[in-house]
Amino acid sequence: MEASFWHDRWNANEIGFHQSKPNALLEKYMGVLGCAEGSRIFLPLCGKTLDIGWLLAKGYCVAGAELSETAVKQLFEELGVVPDISPAGARTRYSAPDIDIFVGDIFDLSEELLGAVDAVYDRAALVALPEEMREEYVRQVAKITDNAPKLLLTFEYDQSQLAGPPFSIDEDSVRTLHSDSYRLTLLEKVQVSGGLKGRVNAEEAVWYLEKE
Ligand SMILES: C[S@@+](CC[C@H](N)C(=O)[O-])C[C@H]1O[C@@H](n2cnc3c(N)ncnc32)[C@H](O)[C@@H]1O
Repeated sequence: MEASFWHDRWNANEIGFHQSKPNALLEKYMGVLGCAEGSRIFLPLCGKTLDIGWLLAKGYCVAGAELSETAVKQLFEELGVVPDISPAGARTRYSAPDIDIFVGDIFDLSEELLGAVDAVYDRAALVALPEEMREEYVRQVAKITDNAPKLLLTFEYDQSQLAGPPFSIDEDSVRTLHSDSYRLTLLEKVQVSGGLKGRVNAEEAVWYLEKE
């Protein structure tokens, strides 16, 4: 997916992936990560997800990476927080107490800039990327987070019924992508209520990945 695809989506406000409430699987399984209050959770490709507000309200710190500055501006507006905006290497950092969002391509984000994180929460990030980008993405997230444990949400459906994103990623592919660096546990699979995009039968899977 080209950057322009996502910029166009944000500029046209075509953000069907954005959920109107915090993700139920995050609420159910965040505890599996075993993170104490104050732990720093990294959300790659974070958009303006309400999951960030939920994590902050639970006492976690949040770091995010997002291509679209429009998304990041809206995120802070909707949180009701005025960010401190500063240059961070070749990119821009939007910060406030307990939250840092790095605007730009995740593939250019370094571990130094991101800083230490305790866990990763990936919702609509891996599945937003076409197959040819996924290996590099998984490697990059592992590198900049020092293989921090991860809660990963994926979709499984008949790809011939719907063009991604979100793309379908089956169990074998999730395992193949991550088996070098993580031990994987499939926590649950749930039926997507009403179907994906209201049309296609799909399951959402939630995975717990631990450092190998
Ligand atoms: C499907 S959305 C999911 C957003 C969020 N995770 C959520 O659950 O609402 C994918 C997001 O990733 C961002 N994105 C896509 N490619 C990116 C990249 N290479 N680096 C950083 N962000 C990217 C897009 O702008 C978009 O906001």
